[in-house]
Amino acid sequence: MRKARVLIDRDFAIGHTDPRLFGAFVEHLGRCVYGGIYEPGHPTADERGFRKDVLALVKELGPTLIRYPGGNFVSGYNWEDGVGPQETRPARLDLAWFSTEPNSFGTNEFMDWCRAADVAPMMAVNLGTRGGDAARNLVEYCNHPGGTALSELRRTHGWDKPHGVKLWCLGNEVDGPWQMEHKSAGDYGALAREAAKMMRWIDPTIELAACGSSGRNMPTFGQWEDTVLEHTFDHVDYISLHTYLNNYKQDTASFLASPDLMDSFIDEVVAIADAVAARRRSNKRLMLSFDEWNVWYRTRRNRADRVREGWPVAPPILEEIYTMEDALAFGGACISLLNHADRVKVACLAQLVNVIAPIMTETGGGAWRQTTFFPFAHLSRFGRGKVLRTQAESETYDSSYYDPRGTQEQSFPVPSVPYLKTAAVATEDGGLSLFLLNRDLKQEMEVSVEARRFGRLKVCERVELRHDDLKATNSKHAPDTIKPAPLQNVTFEGGRLQATLKPASWNVIHLSAS
Ligand code: AHR
Repeated sequence: MRKARVLIDRDFAIGHTDPRLFGAFVEHLGRCVYGGIYEPGHPTADERGFRKDVLALVKELGPTLIRYPGGNFVSGYNWEDGVGPQETRPARLDLAWFSTEPNSFGTNEFMDWCRAADVAPMMAVNLGTRGGDAARNLVEYCNHPGGTALSELRRTHGWDKPHGVKLWCLGNEVDGPWQMEHKSAGDYGALAREAAKMMRWIDPTIELAACGSSGRNMPTFGQWEDTVLEHTFDHVDYISLHTYLNNYKQDTASFLASPDLMDSFIDEVVAIADAVAARRRSNKRLMLSFDEWNVWYRTRRNRADRVREGWPVAPPILEEIYTMEDALAFGGACISLLNHADRVKVACLAQLVNVIAPIMTETGGGAWRQTTFFPFAHLSRFGRGKVLRTQAESETYDSSYYDPRGTQEQSFPVPSVPYLKTAAVATEDGGLSLFLLNRDLKQEMEVSVEARRFGRLKVCERVELRHDDLKATNSKHAPDTIKPAPLQNVTFEGGRLQATLKPASWNVIHLSAS
């Protein structure tokens, strides 16, 4: 049995979680939109074609913000194709995912869907094949009340009131050669700066995120952020980060260590952003938008998993089936995000339905939860409040994480990985949430948490997610193979919590003020 000790003090805080930390992502990709959130004719569809079974699961999952419409897709997207009468909208080839985009779902449908799902929109503009002009026109179409050609166009399309979109991404992964009209950092920085200026001149209340690196493993990481921020620092509020964790090597211990590289990635981007600020003698602190994160590898490298020949509409691509161990690595990523609540203000789980997603559907049929659904739902439900510094003592292990990029094979050292990965949140109701990931694959862990300067607390919720088979999955036929169960052996007395965590388990304990 391993032992771990954690000390927290209600006054020692990292920062408050921004409600937008619990975001997700809907891209025009595979069956995320068509056959996912939108399926006219489905038995549960409402009059707008929104699947109500999916909406119910989205509400249970609890995202607060949805990034849209891409992703790689946005770098070739003409937003004008997706507005106006549906019967006159053009079908187009989508060169991001080699499929046909029918455009029957577009900006206005997305805004209506966000209202139905009770989430805020985060829109991305095309800074691949298009530029500042199309971007500023979209802001005018969405946010200007009326009296101009584009705002009146929205009104004639049936949306009288402006959508009031507050958060905007200036393009997507422009550092990646796979992107339509991939650019150098200098070219992108200048383009993003000019687009940002015009977008904000139209609506000064909007917030803007510049593209950072599409991964810490990119050869240009670091230099990219530095150059882009030299151009955009005065015009943007966020710099983006993307990470997809993998277990290509079937080395589970290293896979579970890999979220710690998200911590490093965040620290490094913060250091670069603050260095750019220092060069300007500026006290502005740029915040981070971790607007794509997840586990993704099985359907990533083989063309057959990414592309269906013949330019189909909504092909079943990137339909990653998540295992128990994926949910553990995913939970580690949730803890990394919480522990950087001071600088990571926006985060989007990529993606929401069918495409590398916590929710799966059958076209014409049912919907179910993947294993990763649960840590995200716990994060959103129990993670709101003041994240506390955790002083943890846990034994550690060394690992090396394989993270290839294209044809380049590369590994990164992850030294001194604590078996216990943890976060603590003082919740708004005076309670305390503890997120506890036991990364030991074989041994149980006895955890003792001393919670200082809290009033009287009592154990209110305690859940555990684990399975003897780390490769177990949920499916249409067995949707409940992996699901949370009550965590046994939890006591709280005299400000000290004792719990025994099973090997390879994700655990959440919520204490309420008594
Ligand atoms: O989420 C899938 C894809 O991953 C997105 O389109 C892209 O931005 C990233 O490479």
